[in-house]
Amino acid sequence: IPNLGAKSAKTGSQDKQQYVCPFCHSKRGLSLMGLRSVSEISVSLSQMFSSQFNDDKKALAFSDNVQDAAHHAGFFNHRTWRFGLRTAIQEYSATNTGLVSLDAHKAASDARLHADKVNEIRHLSNLVLVLLLTFGGGSVKRNGVYDQVVAALEGRDLVEFWGIEANPSVETLREAIALGKERKVDFLLAVGGGSVIDGTKLIAAGLLYDGDAWDIVLKGQAGKTVPLATVLTMSATGSEMNSGAVISRYETKEKYAFYGDYPVFSILDPETLYSLPKRQVACGLADTFVHVLEQYMTTPHQSRLMDRWAEGILHTVVEIAPKALADERDYDTMSEYMLSATLALNDMIRMGVTQDWATHMIGHELTALHGLTHGATLAIVINGTLRVLRGQKRGKLLQYGERIWGIAGGSEEERIDRTIAANEAFFRSLGLSTRLSEEGIGEETIAEIERRFTAAGDRFGEAQNVDGAMARRILEACL
Ligand code: NZQ
Ligand code: ZN
Repeated sequence: IPNLGAKSAKTGSQDKQQYVCPFCHSKRGLSLMGLRSVSEISVSLSQMFSSQFNDDKKALAFSDNVQDAAHHAGFFNHRTWRFGLRTAIQEYSATNTGLVSLDAHKAASDARLHADKVNEIRHLSNLVLVLLLTFGGGSVKRNGVYDQVVAALEGRDLVEFWGIEANPSVETLREAIALGKERKVDFLLAVGGGSVIDGTKLIAAGLLYDGDAWDIVLKGQAGKTVPLATVLTMSATGSEMNSGAVISRYETKEKYAFYGDYPVFSILDPETLYSLPKRQVACGLADTFVHVLEQYMTTPHQSRLMDRWAEGILHTVVEIAPKALADERDYDTMSEYMLSATLALNDMIRMGVTQDWATHMIGHELTALHGLTHGATLAIVINGTLRVLRGQKRGKLLQYGERIWGIAGGSEEERIDRTIAANEAFFRSLGLSTRLSEEGIGEETIAEIERRFTAAGDRFGEAQNVDGAMARRILEACL
């Protein structure tokens, strides 16, 4: 596009110059967006926001200057309001031909200006006409959480879907999506642990998707979603405050993560954890601990703040683990466990630092192939990851050893040896296996995982070096 503006003649006074159009010579026909961008954008924003065809009003601005952006936002906000007011006055005047007092005109125009907001609220409450409640296998019936939820929602149009299994399967979730489409549900409430919540994230996406739900998992990212909220009954995954979900396909023994939407709210009541079997508490604590390690045990000196938040969660889990396992009805302990699990994987401790996640990816394969509980897979694999990648993770291993396990004396190699041993001892103290052989898993599974990673061209870890061959070395180091 030729830059005609620069060569064009100008008219008007020095501080209010207008460009003359080089083709038609009109004096006010040419506007340079660069000079007038704020006004132009504000007008287009007003138009878009007042359009009845725009039912999802959002403005996204990119700027390389924070002060400019703040100034523009204030300007747009003010100007959009003024345009809205003008339109309201104009609309009222056009529909009212009789004589009206100024006060009455003001009141009527005001009402019109705010009518849009009322409509928006009505639109929101319309969303919650039909509510789909999703559950697992029945633990919430036995511990009274179901009764509490249903009592709180009395008078609403509720649809229930039961049977989302631990490690939720696409096979089951397809049924929930079909039910939700048939009943035209507008809002989802997941009542359960990470599996019910993850499954519900796929339902939320599947309800607005025409194809098969497994496509969404393979794509790794959902498109539009129906809003969802959660009532958490099992602390481990952080799914109540993150956008991730891990879905299995039983017929092919596959298990992959995808990103959906964040819950709009989550209710966390530590008393819901009182009925958890000890093994679930142990797996939940292990999962929480490894979530932190995946975001911490990577590169040193990236962020003091992230390191210390991460170490704060690790310390807390180490302190509360024996108490949570001894008495799952201890309110204070269970509330700290609940909050630790949420904060471990809600995007808080990952800001500006490299992440690993290789242990999780290998763990998902062990669950897919053997049905081993998620936290239990991590309690095994993390030890292999640390042993094999001790060189790459050297700085963080020394810091972790010193700050969490108080390991300070001796040569660096000795300190790393003792740190890896202390890490394994922690998972054993939860009553979990730390070796593949204890779970009867051996070479056949290792070969299959190596094959799958290699075939998919996967490369995980902060250095992207955990491919099929490296996954084999890690698994062999856990035998
Ligand atoms: O199905 P019900 O009857 O509810 O029983 C469940 C299930 O059998 C039971 N349970 C839950 N709350 C209970 C209870 N039993 C008694 N009292 C209660 N209050 O516990 C069993 C396990 O529940 P599940 O939801 O499977 O556990 P968890 O929260 O550990 O979720 C595991 C799933 O989450 C995925 C895992 O891969 C696995 O599929 N993850 C999700 C993540 C995420 N969304 O960000 C990250 C994690 O790393 C993880 O991968
Ligand atoms: Zn996990």
